[in-house]
Amino acid sequence: MRLAFKKSFCYVVVVLFVSLNLVLCVEDFHPEERDALLVIRDSLNSSLDLHGNWTGPPCIENLSRWIGVTCSNWHVVHIVLEGVNLSGFLPPTFLQNITLLTQISFRNNAIFGPLPNLTSLVFLEQVLLSFNRFSGSIPGEYVELQSLEVLELQQNYLDGKIPPFDQPSLTSFNVSYNHLVGPIPETSVLQKLPKSSFDNNSDLCGKQLDKLCPAEPPAPPPIPAVERNKKRLHVWIIALIASAAALCLFLIIISFLFSIRKASRKETRRDGSAGYVFGAWARKMVSYPGNSEESQRLGQLEFSNKNFPVFDLDDLLRASAQVLGRGNLGVTYKATLETGTVVAVKRLSSMSELSRKEFLRQMQLLGQIKHENIVEIISFYYLEEQKLIIYELTSDGSLFELLHEGRGAGRVSLDWTTRLAIIKDIAKGLAFLHHSLSSHKVPHANLKSCNVIVHQDSQGYHSKLTDYGFLPLLKGKKNAEKLAISKSPEFVKGNKKLSHKADVYCFGIIMLEIITGKVPGQILGVEETTSDLSDWVRTVVNNDWSTDILDLEILAEKERHDGMLELTELALECTDMAPEKRPKMSEVLKRMEEIEQIKIEND
Ligand SMILES: *[C@@H]1O[C@H](CO)[C@@H](O)[C@H](O)[C@H]1NC(C)=O
Ligand SMILES: *[C@@H]1O[C@H](CO)[C@@H](O)[C@H](O)[C@H]1NC(C)=O
Repeated sequence: MRLAFKKSFCYVVVVLFVSLNLVLCVEDFHPEERDALLVIRDSLNSSLDLHGNWTGPPCIENLSRWIGVTCSNWHVVHIVLEGVNLSGFLPPTFLQNITLLTQISFRNNAIFGPLPNLTSLVFLEQVLLSFNRFSGSIPGEYVELQSLEVLELQQNYLDGKIPPFDQPSLTSFNVSYNHLVGPIPETSVLQKLPKSSFDNNSDLCGKQLDKLCPAEPPAPPPIPAVERNKKRLHVWIIALIASAAALCLFLIIISFLFSIRKASRKETRRDGSAGYVFGAWARKMVSYPGNSEESQRLGQLEFSNKNFPVFDLDDLLRASAQVLGRGNLGVTYKATLETGTVVAVKRLSSMSELSRKEFLRQMQLLGQIKHENIVEIISFYYLEEQKLIIYELTSDGSLFELLHEGRGAGRVSLDWTTRLAIIKDIAKGLAFLHHSLSSHKVPHANLKSCNVIVHQDSQGYHSKLTDYGFLPLLKGKKNAEKLAISKSPEFVKGNKKLSHKADVYCFGIIMLEIITGKVPGQILGVEETTSDLSDWVRTVVNNDWSTDILDLEILAEKERHDGMLELTELALECTDMAPEKRPKMSEVLKRMEEIEQIKIEND
């Protein structure tokens, strides 16, 4: 039961991850493969509605969500789009990241331009690009595809010579009806093929075509002995230099490829088995017992909450870890210490520029924040290559999960009272952050439904904000793009003057998400922005003050509609394009209480 729940959660979250970069909760998704496929979607026209269909993640385990794509264990393995009027120019390099690809077929379309670069796709077995408008020559690297079984290039506009294909796996090969020239290479693989594999080219020759190739041009007349020696010397030197240069280049390329391979292998491992990661790093770290120099370098865990049972780095590293979520800022683990204490550990990535001092200062500051609607920071740890933040763990579930997971039959709907309680908790938490970090440019900066932890007990739902206070730790705009405030209109417009109002915007979007049950950024499929949700609500509401926007799950609560729509109005103010027109959080709280008041009077 629990497992099924988790899976569907993953599914929804993957959708979110892809379409919003809103991240957090994903495990095995391969965004680089998706990006490669988007190149096809976005550079070719087709009679299929690829734009409508190729959205969200391509693969959920072995299941493909995208037409023409086959998946295996979250990876894309086949791309088959045959006879669907694909037309346009395919960028030569885009498939490299789909590392486990075994079959690619664009048969019977109208794609033009050079044949795609297939370098490094070592598992590729079938390349079916016949009946298109490809031009240029057959890339020499195709000879390197060690698993290639079928290569179909017939009926294109290819020219140049046939490279010396000789991989034993290659049993089906067709380059007929092109403009190829020159001799068919005399490799054992090509020798075995029939005439029809080569037929109808401009000027091919070879045994298979019953057409002898012209003899090599006659050798130049002999050169007098002395001259010949000189010349030979010359040739020798040139050959030597050339081969030295080639060797250098070769070594450079090899070492480059090797480093790429190494890096990508690391990546895969990281993606592969989640819990292992924490363990692997941890194992390395704990393998220095008794080495006082090393343990000095490793330093201590810093504790901000003196009441929490103290544990040391060693305890933490020995803890069993399980991935809770993967976000733009790093991976979050659920760590169970040997004592039974359970904590959430966030391993920050890409904060290498950060100095120890800056990190500790910010963490000590954040560690002092105590509020029932804010996830507490218990401890933190800094090492140049590792930065950990240890949070209290009250629940594994996020608001995103609660709102969007398992939509459809069998879902227990979330009533308005619960939704209202969640909105109020978020507002309180955010108002408190704005109060206690008032000097910060944007105190939370990463408010989104994935970063609201929802916990249920006998008294109902309680929500807490997490992932707050990172803006000062992220240097430069590029890094700030990882935060939820990057979806605010002022950020999108490149306005550097971010303020608390960017948080208010994110809060407004969460309110709309709770009221409508819709995922921001998925309404128009414009992934860069969340304002599609507010725009949509604004349009619907302006045309006719209407309940169309309400989530189906709360639509039946008719007597609450007024309250819902009043809150919608407040949410729209919070998401105003102009930051200065948005209310402050303290004002938002006051307004919410007033709405509540009216409701009680009416009841
Ligand atoms: C794409 O189309 C296929 C086949 O029609 C369908 O099964 C799949 O659900 C669609 N995917 C999305 C994301 O709409
Ligand atoms: C090669 O393709 C041509 C044109 O489609 C076809 O007539 C021929 O039978 C094919 N030959 C082989 C060996 O596949």
